[in-house]
Amino acid sequence: MSNFDDDQVPLELLRQRAFNLRWATVPEDVIPLTAADPDFAIAQVIRDAIADYTAGGVFSYGPPAGLPSFREAAARVQRERRGINDCTADCILPTDSAASGMFVTARRTLAPGDEAIIFDPVDFLFGACVDAAGAHSVRSRVDPVTRTFDLDGLHDLVTDRTRMIAVCNPHNPLGRVMTPDELRAIGEFACERDLLILSDEVWGDIIHAPHQHTAIASLSPEIAARTVGVYGFSKTFGLAGLRVGFLAAPNPRVRDELLEVSKAPTTAYGVSTLSQVAAQAAYEHAWPWAEEFLAHLLRMRDLAASRLNAIEGITAVAPEGTYVMFANIEGLGLGDQDAVADWILEHAKVRVVPGSPRWFGPGAAGHIRITFCTSEAILTEALDRISEALAARRRGVE
Ligand SMILES: Cc1ncc(COP(=O)(O)O)c(C=O)c1O
Repeated sequence: MSNFDDDQVPLELLRQRAFNLRWATVPEDVIPLTAADPDFAIAQVIRDAIADYTAGGVFSYGPPAGLPSFREAAARVQRERRGINDCTADCILPTDSAASGMFVTARRTLAPGDEAIIFDPVDFLFGACVDAAGAHSVRSRVDPVTRTFDLDGLHDLVTDRTRMIAVCNPHNPLGRVMTPDELRAIGEFACERDLLILSDEVWGDIIHAPHQHTAIASLSPEIAARTVGVYGFSKTFGLAGLRVGFLAAPNPRVRDELLEVSKAPTTAYGVSTLSQVAAQAAYEHAWPWAEEFLAHLLRMRDLAASRLNAIEGITAVAPEGTYVMFANIEGLGLGDQDAVADWILEHAKVRVVPGSPRWFGPGAAGHIRITFCTSEAILTEALDRISEALAARRRGVE
């Protein structure tokens, strides 16, 4: 028996508890391949850690800078799995999600009117955190066909207000895992132009062989000195509802500035201690579960890619990392990405995310995004529905 068999999806609970465009937000006859959030119950070792802590019955305030044991566990993972050798617990700031870590980093780094370079397309959180700091996003277009980054062109985007470049590696929604050469070019660019690097690596554990994740801060001390890494527990361990993540700062001074901006010391913000306990258990004990999850995801990725590419008018590239697939739908002749997503919802009863500016920036036009972090049975049913609805339409048109 595997943790990822068809009968391991707790559908009734998901219908009650999975929001953010997912099961709890759609009618019973719709399959939501939307927000990137696993359909499986979390690792037993994490559930046990939550139960043990809860059994003690004490839920006092935690330290504003986070539980020392959580920070130790996170720093160890940074050193041992991500090659960031001099990361210590003093460099770690727990945040109440990776998303909020991005906002804290942007607020610490950008003043109103400053500029930050982000890629296009990319997850909406990149533009949103820059906006929230009162700054402007300057978008570097990723080639939609080759999925290559225009690294030489970055220099043309710099002005005297540019303060930050934000990298999504692995990339949501493109599924690209950046190579050491690409990252080195970005790191050297940031050093030359004196920019902070926000490196969102929430997808860093979801890498499909033979690709390998490189943390940009592992490349050189100079690059590490200007990188704030953003990490989370939603994608690898399914803890999205616990809202927990962390920032890895280059040194304790930057960590202290991030802490100040996070407003955790006021007690108005900060991470629940229970969430930190769960995240610590994930990092200390749940890697074997994550390995099994990854093996399942690889099979689902290949299933989704082969089924989508078999549909006339859809081209999908299997992602190198992440469990999202970004498919070009321009050949369907059904209109733009929003029209296609609406059509699929109406005719196939599957909800997908349209590649609209709101979600991924203007560079996502002509695409939809599908997540495949579900069981083989549910994914197959969703893909059957999409291909049969489109085939029926074609028959009707001909
Ligand atoms: C690139 C990227 N960054 C950040 C997040 C947010 O993660 P969290 O749920 O830990 O805030 C997501 C979630 O989809 C993501 O794809």
